[in-house]
Amino acid sequence: MPDPARFVTVDDYEALAREVLPPASSEFVAGGAGDERTLAWNRRAFDRWALRPRFLRGVAAADPSTELFGCPLALPVLIAPWAYQRTAHPDGELATARAAARAGTVFCASTTAEAILEDIAAASTSPKWWQLYVFADRGFTAEMLRRVSSAGYTAVVWTIDLTAYGLRHRETRIGYQPPISLTTEELAYDPSISWDDLAWIREQAPGLPVLLKGILTAEDAELAVGAGADGIVVSNHGGRQLDTSPASLDVLPEVIDTVGGHIPVLLDGGVRRGTDIVKALALGASAVMIGRPAAWGLAAGGEEGVVDVLRILREELENAMTLCGCPTVADITRGHVSPAPVG
Ligand SMILES: Cc1cc2nc3c(=O)[nH]c(=O)nc-3n(C[C@H](O)[C@H](O)[C@H](O)COP(=O)(O)O)c2cc1C
Repeated sequence: MPDPARFVTVDDYEALAREVLPPASSEFVAGGAGDERTLAWNRRAFDRWALRPRFLRGVAAADPSTELFGCPLALPVLIAPWAYQRTAHPDGELATARAAARAGTVFCASTTAEAILEDIAAASTSPKWWQLYVFADRGFTAEMLRRVSSAGYTAVVWTIDLTAYGLRHRETRIGYQPPISLTTEELAYDPSISWDDLAWIREQAPGLPVLLKGILTAEDAELAVGAGADGIVVSNHGGRQLDTSPASLDVLPEVIDTVGGHIPVLLDGGVRRGTDIVKALALGASAVMIGRPAAWGLAAGGEEGVVDVLRILREELENAMTLCGCPTVADITRGHVSPAPVG
């Protein structure tokens, strides 16, 4: 069991993860692209908003539960897809899937776990989502989506921001080698993906909602709604793709204004605190996803570590909601944030 005195915040897990992970894995998890400006901006963007607490509202205990695509969630925090989890802990994706189920939330498995797609689906009875990279080999991609459907995944999250691999200098410097080579020549990610492919993906996985992960502009949000996306994840891949692309939180308002409530909008990138979650929801997100915090929990304590990271975020969120006077997530509104003083 994690020691509660040592693990008070999510960042405490980062410290232990750095101690226990082999250097190459540690750099793989931590790193961003280029000069890591976007990686830093993701965090800083949350500091540019202050919370506006409301009092005397009789909130004795906040309830952070919500719902997405008809699926109840104990808290508006999902596990983002992240690759090669067995390099962080021998139980890898299976542990993360079980942890998400115990915390009452959704685990989104990465395409890179394709070899154990069915094992992940069977790791818990809770709903899981599948993150999709479209490969140049469309036959392989179609077969993977057929397996995703028959294994019982409940949504497809199509990642659109990896038409080329980001310039991850930490990986280059330390000689990071992915443990499996899904990206050999035959299985290269298809750089020619376009809006037309949404219909093709739907045909391969009929009936499953398809979310687009990686939207960063109002223009693309408008196209996503027009193309019939079921949801959007505002994301810059945790700062790992195009350096100096904007912080996710900074572009959330323009995406929300464009989408106009037609489809759920999720956000990931830099979420480390319960107050971050309240800010994202106040600015219009339906839920957030966490990448590195889950990786740190898994590296530090396997399934228990991920459960504990989600516990910390849940307790912090409940505390922030209570102190903001919000008994439910639906009570978190734009009026609960204002620009923070500069400096
Ligand atoms: C180690 C690592 C591996 C990742 N692998 C994937 C992946 O396979 N597919 C994907 O869509 N996103 C991937 N991501 C991006 C995450 O889904 C998410 O967008 C990002 O981690 C959110 O930022 P955060 O780490 O600050 O929470 C990865 C992120 C990390 C840290």
